[in-house]
Amino acid sequence: MKIGILTSGGDCPGLNAVIRGIVIKGDKLFEDEFIGYRDGWRGVIENDFMTLPRRKVRGIGRIGGTILGTSRANPFHDGADGAEIVLRQMDENDIDAIVAIGGDGTLYTANRLHEAGVPVVGVPKTVDNDLDATDYTFGFNTAVEIATESLDRLRMTGDSHHRCMVAEVMGRSVGWIALHSGMAAGAHVICLPEFPLTIDEICGYVKSAFDRGRAPLVVVAEGFIPQDAPEGFMDYDLDEFGRPRFGGVAAALAPIIEERLGVEARATVLGHIQRGGEPTGYDRVLATRLGTAAVDLVHGSKYGRMVSLRGTEIVDVPLSDAIDSTKKVPQSRWDEVEILFG
Ligand code: F6P
Repeated sequence: MKIGILTSGGDCPGLNAVIRGIVIKGDKLFEDEFIGYRDGWRGVIENDFMTLPRRKVRGIGRIGGTILGTSRANPFHDGADGAEIVLRQMDENDIDAIVAIGGDGTLYTANRLHEAGVPVVGVPKTVDNDLDATDYTFGFNTAVEIATESLDRLRMTGDSHHRCMVAEVMGRSVGWIALHSGMAAGAHVICLPEFPLTIDEICGYVKSAFDRGRAPLVVVAEGFIPQDAPEGFMDYDLDEFGRPRFGGVAAALAPIIEERLGVEARATVLGHIQRGGEPTGYDRVLATRLGTAAVDLVHGSKYGRMVSLRGTEIVDVPLSDAIDSTKKVPQSRWDEVEILFG
């Protein structure tokens, strides 16, 4: 078969390991031929691709980013007939199937294409770990490792200066990175979009840590807003899809803590640092397994499905499962961590 691969949406450590897994298995077992679309769906729309012989994926499993590039382009943009565009491109280049590696937006597009007759399978990715259709997404573990190391560093300098450190990590509508990295670093309070906290409560935890002679560490997910946020607390720009472009909640919170408690409070935004760099061993293995399993989906004509991690097994589920619900931090995980605050 001749198979097209694309990576779409925000990048994520492990994308190259998926590509490598697909190409090695397809080449060895089925003598498949591969092309890689440049910059996600943009490459499909504009017929921009590279050939992907096995030698091109040599050694890329341990490298971050994506050798194919990525974008948030969408074949259905502005009412376009996305399926017609994609099918025409595939026909012109004798492509039998597409493997789309991406988050909820990419998988939503892949599902729409599938419903219109495009032979496509999915591989889920997101550092936010917010897809319900899989237990963990690759990239999340790497982001947590990077965030934890950074939080440890912030605690160290915070201790020297007797400051409150407010660290902002990624997580648009879910707080998985904040929960895991904050718990690992021993944060004194962790603010998640899923669970309401007032500024008073946050200050209470900060004060209690300070009173015990600790330098308080506050970890905030970028999508968190305090329940009693003052008017104009955050005012986000919108991205090309009309979604808030997050960033800045730590900088808004730190001066309020400083003013209310009279302790010096400093804000740090970890931002895209969490997404760059080499994937951890865990993410390399997960990504490789998902890539090799995606080859089986294509050869089994299981279009409209995506590979997924359930427990320790790789299974496959309908693409529609990935877009139906967001995996939020459950109450039980909040209860576990909340007891550690202050
Ligand atoms: O969806 C993953 C994510 O990393 C979010 O946590 C973050 O808000 C967003 O992507 C940032 O996207 P961009 O790369 O467009 O700034």
